Amino acid sequence: MDPAAHDRRLKVLIPNLPTFDDLEPWLRRIDDNRHYTNFGPLNRELEEALSALIRAEHAVTVSSGTLGLELALTALGLRAGSRVLVPSMTFPASATAIVRAGLIPVFGDIDDRRLVMTPDIARRAASETDVRAVLTVAVHGEVHDPDAWDAFTAETGLPVLIDAAGVVGRQRVGRTTSAVFSLHATKPIAAGEGGVVATRDAAMARRVRSLSNFGFDTGRVRAVGTNAKLSEYHAALGLAALARWPGTLERWTSLYDTYAHLLQTSDPEAGLRLATARTAPSNLCVRVKQTIDDRHIQALSGVGIETRRWYWPPVHRHPAFSGYACVGDLATTDRAGAELLGLPFSLDLDRDDIERVCAALRSTLIPENAAPHGCADLAGLAAGGVPRGVGRGFDPDPSGPPEGTPSRM
Ligand SMILES: Cc1ncc(COP(=O)(O)O)c(C=O)c1O
Repeated sequence: MDPAAHDRRLKVLIPNLPTFDDLEPWLRRIDDNRHYTNFGPLNRELEEALSALIRAEHAVTVSSGTLGLELALTALGLRAGSRVLVPSMTFPASATAIVRAGLIPVFGDIDDRRLVMTPDIARRAASETDVRAVLTVAVHGEVHDPDAWDAFTAETGLPVLIDAAGVVGRQRVGRTTSAVFSLHATKPIAAGEGGVVATRDAAMARRVRSLSNFGFDTGRVRAVGTNAKLSEYHAALGLAALARWPGTLERWTSLYDTYAHLLQTSDPEAGLRLATARTAPSNLCVRVKQTIDDRHIQALSGVGIETRRWYWPPVHRHPAFSGYACVGDLATTDRAGAELLGLPFSLDLDRDDIERVCAALRSTLIPENAAPHGCADLAGLAAGGVPRGVGRGFDPDPSGPPEGTPSRM
């Protein structure tokens, strides 16, 4: 390995946005159109391309994923103060959107293997407490089966939204189950800032569109909305990012496969398991058989490897959300969250970098290799709950790879 490469600091993520050259043709079109926001031609083109990619009849762009969630929740038309079930293993924005939509989050637990809230978990939670909707989340690259959530809605009468912020292009929508994506700079298809509400429900799409434009509908404000429109400049970034998407997807997948392979072949019994599914996720975590703490993070940082504890602490443990109710003790959320560590996962990595990360993980996180540091070892607790071996080396998206991926437009 090149000694200079050995010293290179490996960052957890490096945004992968279109370059000046990628953007230039789109910016010239803005100059020609002299249309800068308010649902301009580039925005329309982006929505068409996203709707083909996601395979949803309607893809309504908004200025961020968080606002997309807020407006989609508002568009459900729930009574103010209604309770919405949401997993606590998520980015705080999921709960923020619920509160800002005038609703009340109720935190639920997740499945220990998939790390997301499943219809079965939601069904049990809904039988124990009064909730009027479910906002499930596609974290750790784990996409949901929208048909299973449609069946949940048909059975319980509870509408379901999927916060699929990090998996645009990979999460399908259902007949009644809609999804919200983020186009933030750190996401696989990155427009700097931006979001998309994808749905098959024309009425929901129309409500979200109207709410994103102050609530105007046929010239009158019919419900109090906000300004969540996507500018033409962000649409240009989104279109340029989409044009690069097939290549980006291939590169993410190859990096994922390299991690899975190296973790597995290096030490299959070591208890380091890739905790992220293979869907071109925007971050990548391993799960270990002990509680991660600052000393692990500092040890890795000391050898030039930046890490991050995604979704830690869980949202119900943040001061702003700790007053809201939880269904049960959220033991799986707490334990799984404590065992997850986000690794460098940017398109700048090569195989040598990934080998370096895996070697450092083995010496830092595997108890018999690590210097004594007095961390609580949860191996006993985890027994049976944390399968050995590596990787979730399957593509859980039942619909397979996305079609209709646009080429340069
Ligand atoms: C699960 C989840 N939901 C919502 C968001 C918010 O998206 P945005 O940054 O586009 O507002 C994020 C952002 O990282 C996220 O990870």
